[in-house]
Amino acid sequence: MHTMTQLVLKNLSHTYVTKQAATTAIENINVTLHEGEFLSILGPSGCGKTTLLSIISGLLTPTSGDVLLNGKNVKENNAHIGYMLQQDYLFPWLTIFENITVGLSIMGKLTPETKQLALNLLEQMGLGEKKLHYPSQLSGGMRQRVALVRMLVTQPSLMLLDEPFSALDYQTKLKLENLVFKTLKLEQKTALLVTHDIGEAIAMSDTVVLLSARPGRIHQIFPVPRELKALLPFEARQHPVYTELFQIIWKELEQIEALE
Ligand SMILES: Nc1ncnc2c1ncn2[C@@H]1O[C@H](COP(=O)(O)OP(=O)(O)OP(=O)(O)O)[C@@H](O)[C@H]1O
Ligand SMILES: [Mg+2]
Repeated sequence: MHTMTQLVLKNLSHTYVTKQAATTAIENINVTLHEGEFLSILGPSGCGKTTLLSIISGLLTPTSGDVLLNGKNVKENNAHIGYMLQQDYLFPWLTIFENITVGLSIMGKLTPETKQLALNLLEQMGLGEKKLHYPSQLSGGMRQRVALVRMLVTQPSLMLLDEPFSALDYQTKLKLENLVFKTLKLEQKTALLVTHDIGEAIAMSDTVVLLSARPGRIHQIFPVPRELKALLPFEARQHPVYTELFQIIWKELEQIEALE
């Protein structure tokens, strides 16, 4: 199944209001993501990245502005959005296999083919022999990989990933970057990745967006050079152009954090 997915964020702002305080998390975010584009978001802790993903997913209603998916408000659009939350929310009473197929079940898409896909992905993540275990028997990094499989198997047309590799050791992270990159490129998925890792943002994306400190505004947009986009993330990380862009973004992020 091939679905066109273009995402437009229009003047998005969000203020959390509690009895004690009003906190403006993001302010006036304007971004367009074209079909098949992979965009990463970098920014200091607390600048509103998770808030932004929650708004895009439709879980949170912004104070002002619009999220348009293929020209239609995200809440009226029945497009299938995959959202991998910053904390993994696996169901503790279900096995790993049941956890990764629960979305498919709900959607009525559990077939021998999708079951096989789920098992293959689990295998590729190095967790094949864990399928009958429960989440509490797995490490944090393993649970994060299970959450990733759970999202990938439902084959959403838009994927939102909130620091999906943060609990992984470096080796595993590099492997999974390649795996996710290949999976998404092959299927021309539109994706939005939040990360703290500048290198990951450059190696995986078409575009890197740098947000300012809270309230998160767009500080700068960096298109990733074509020669890097053609490479797998692991190879991109070895390229001289990668190092150059890394330095530029790193300095910019340092300045933002110094202003806090
Ligand atoms: N439910 C909420 N109620 C009130 N304030 C909130 C709520 N959720 C987040 N905030 C505040 O909004 C701001 C942005 O939070 P958010 O979680 O979006 O940041 P983030 O960029 O994802 O941070 P991190 O990089 O640490 O994950 C923070 O100041 C946070 O304290
Ligand atoms: Mg966050």
